Amino acid sequence: MNLLFIGDVVGSPGREMVKEFLPKLKEKFRPHFTIINGENAAGGKGITEKIYKEFLGYGAQAITLGNHAWDNREIYEFIGSAKNMVRPANFPEGTPGNGLGFFKMNELEVAVINLQGRTFMSPLDCPFKKADELVEIARERTPFIFVDFHAEVTSEKLAMGWYLDGKVSAVVGTHTHVQTADNRVLPGGTGYLSDVGMTGPYDGILGVEREAVLKKFLTSLPVRFEVPKLGRNQLSAVNIELDRKSGKCKNIKRILINDDNPFYS
Ligand SMILES: [Fe+2]
Ligand SMILES: [Fe+2]
Repeated sequence: MNLLFIGDVVGSPGREMVKEFLPKLKEKFRPHFTIINGENAAGGKGITEKIYKEFLGYGAQAITLGNHAWDNREIYEFIGSAKNMVRPANFPEGTPGNGLGFFKMNELEVAVINLQGRTFMSPLDCPFKKADELVEIARERTPFIFVDFHAEVTSEKLAMGWYLDGKVSAVVGTHTHVQTADNRVLPGGTGYLSDVGMTGPYDGILGVEREAVLKKFLTSLPVRFEVPKLGRNQLSAVNIELDRKSGKCKNIKRILINDDNPFYS
């Protein structure tokens, strides 16, 4: 049983990469279930209903989010009815949307949990305590539990990986937009990767036009971040192989596609 997860899709360059490579990745890895992090899918800032539907049209079954979930105001209008969307669960009670989703695939069911870190990020409810609560609910229904932990620092992500080891199928980090090389199966059978990396412009800085980011570092003045329209792109993903009975991770493989790491089918 294979899960494919594509990291932070940034703007139209990222969406183009999903459109081009998701069919090829499906052919190569034959995933039973595909998840996309879409927090930056609309021009780098949030997601629209049209893009959400576009991702489902490409064959994704679940869309996760992060700190940019609310950047495009359209989200408030459709998140309530977007059954395949999962937003960070540890936002305060009453926040629109859900942080845990159940998705049927044939006779099996996959639970997807999205959590957000707190170190160097906006203060939210404790992601570890929220994880306890949601994992308990999910485990009553299915052993296949995927966690997208949207966080800034590797220490908080590793802590979450070890905290949930043996309780979930995988903990995969998002948000930093740079893929880490620490994919591993923890001793309890949880697949782990600190950050899957982003999908979008390859020559920007974290998916944003370099000039603006450099200006910010050089002047400390406020700048407007835009997604470059032209140039080379990349795709970052992870393929997670799970035991069909126990839901434990057997293998977790990083996927990075760009000009320096070409895709071989
Ligand atoms: Fe992101
Ligand atoms: Fe983020």
